[in-house]
Amino acid sequence: MKPWDGVAYDALPLPHEQWGIRTIEALNLQPNETLLDAGCGTGRDAQLALEKLPHGSLVCVDQSSTMLDQCRTRFGQDQRVRILEGDLDQALPVEPESVDAIMSVAALHWLTQHNNVWQHFYNALKLGGRIATDCGGFGNLAKTLGLVPQIDSNIKFPDWYYANVSDTEALLKAAGFVDIAVSLRPHPTPLPDKQTLATYLKTLVFREWTEDQIFKMSELLTDNTLDYVRLEVRAKKA
Ligand SMILES: C[S@@+](CC[C@H](N)C(=O)[O-])C[C@H]1O[C@@H](n2cnc3c(N)ncnc32)[C@H](O)[C@@H]1O
Repeated sequence: MKPWDGVAYDALPLPHEQWGIRTIEALNLQPNETLLDAGCGTGRDAQLALEKLPHGSLVCVDQSSTMLDQCRTRFGQDQRVRILEGDLDQALPVEPESVDAIMSVAALHWLTQHNNVWQHFYNALKLGGRIATDCGGFGNLAKTLGLVPQIDSNIKFPDWYYANVSDTEALLKAAGFVDIAVSLRPHPTPLPDKQTLATYLKTLVFREWTEDQIFKMSELLTDNTLDYVRLEVRAKKA
């Protein structure tokens, strides 16, 4: 798969910023806590969260070395921050029961085995620890993806997993979580113009596509709007 372009990513007007703010607020972080950002990307949300952790620490985990390069540039020598390469399909690269909170923004729909993900999160949390996550949920980008056959019936895009509420609730419960709240939140996102839309599609959504395919999709999206639906999860380890 084509690597992420962390610099181009950070230059875009991203709805992810609003998703990150909602996610961080839900955690009610305390100044001395340890937070893990799962699928941190370039660390934009993590940087915002770090403002709430003046005496705490932050662990950033992602599998993309190009995104992590940008993340390292962002945090420099901040002693509160550890940046680790890791696959969220595996156990998190931290000691069991070592973190107070886990956040994740726009990453978990890249993983098809959410039972693994929730179990790994549960194992990494201290007792009383919390999770707040955002990712693409059931119905995400349905209109956009429905346009793809008009470009090329053989065209490929990643096998994203857009989980629904009931499956997610069941998996969280099976992993041991309590105080579970799961919801789907439509978030239609207009981009300001065709050029920004094309750059957005190429950098985030259809990274493997040719310029011509990207151009055709941006023309088909007549309202310049991506029909996002977010799956939001909040839960606690008792
Ligand atoms: C759209 S970006 C979101 C980054 C950041 N959380 C944000 O909101 O800007 C998705 C991120 O998920 C990461 N990711 C996808 N699958 C992953 C996996 N299996 N393990 C770790 N990271 C993964 C990608 O490398 C990428 O950095």
